[in-house]
Amino acid sequence: MRILGIETSCDETGVAIYDDQQGLLADQLYSQIKLHADYGGVVPELASRDHVRKTVPLIQAALKQANLIAADIDGVAFTAGPGLVGALLVGATVGRSLALAWNVPAIAVHHMEGHLLAPMLEENPPQFPFVALLVSGGHTQLISVTGVGQYQLLGESIDDAAGEAFDKTAKLLGLDYPGGPMLSKMAERGDGERFHFPRPMTDRPGMDFSFSGLKTFAANTIRQSGDDGQTKADIARAFEDAVVDTLAIKCRRALEETGFNRLVIAGGVSANRALRHKLAEMMKQRKGEVFYARPEFCTDNGAMIAYAGMIRLKAEESSPLELTVRPRWPLEQLPPVVYY
Ligand code: KG4
Ligand code: ZN
Repeated sequence: MRILGIETSCDETGVAIYDDQQGLLADQLYSQIKLHADYGGVVPELASRDHVRKTVPLIQAALKQANLIAADIDGVAFTAGPGLVGALLVGATVGRSLALAWNVPAIAVHHMEGHLLAPMLEENPPQFPFVALLVSGGHTQLISVTGVGQYQLLGESIDDAAGEAFDKTAKLLGLDYPGGPMLSKMAERGDGERFHFPRPMTDRPGMDFSFSGLKTFAANTIRQSGDDGQTKADIARAFEDAVVDTLAIKCRRALEETGFNRLVIAGGVSANRALRHKLAEMMKQRKGEVFYARPEFCTDNGAMIAYAGMIRLKAEESSPLELTVRPRWPLEQLPPVVYY
């Protein structure tokens, strides 16, 4: 079974073709970062218009890369939420229409399920059950995962997502959107001893997060200590340490609560080297294992959507012609996958 996957939920147009026997056959990505950089964040209307320009050419490029024609595709998966409504509508409309024209089933994919399953595209895929830490620009969630579609939310951010906190703090440090990866790079030359940022909500039980206070803490630190190059790097380091530590503390709680010894991290922030390192150390101590995708499959991409769509299409799920996208869509509302 060969599935075309289309991702247009935010500022990346991703298209991929996944074959259940041969694996990934094509993977195309166009990032709109430059388009939005002047505005310091994603401008939804510009994002939608750019997806309109890029989606079809990327599908053609993916078919060419895989040396396939339309008749070789057995199903079309598209991101139907959560995300920006206009952006979602582009991929969903193109995907649903192509499936109709090609007379193959279509499947609406949950963007966060795509992220959650992305580590399964790697060589050593995680087995169920596991704890998943989803950390992206819009979400920070801890989930108990007992199978595909069997998700129990253990905790989530009550305000900013981890990626959002990275981006807002990066902006304060004078970095362009999306500043997360650049802040992380800056932190590498920072002194971890100079500043100490709080670890929000770790002094009480529970697995929820709050990251919005950290950007205020960063703003105050900049005001008091200046913003020369080394100070900025020291602040970046203290901020990153605080986020990574906080995520690790809550992951540990989730592992203790569920009794699982596998941890999956996914979403854009799971590309962060300090986070990967910290969680790898923690899991080594616990005699468990941590799983993550290669960096380009941590951030938004078409491969994870093709893969998640394939699992659901194989379970004989499909989406009707009537098109719905869901800017908000709780992960737990997904039906469990029943294998035939
Ligand atoms: O998953 P993603 O590509 O898009 C959403 O679904 O939101 O995540 C993007 C987020 C951005 O906030 C970006 O700054 C952050 O992931 N990010 C990182 C790193 N790479 C991406 N944050 C920290 N360190 C990184 N290396
Ligand atoms: Zn994402």
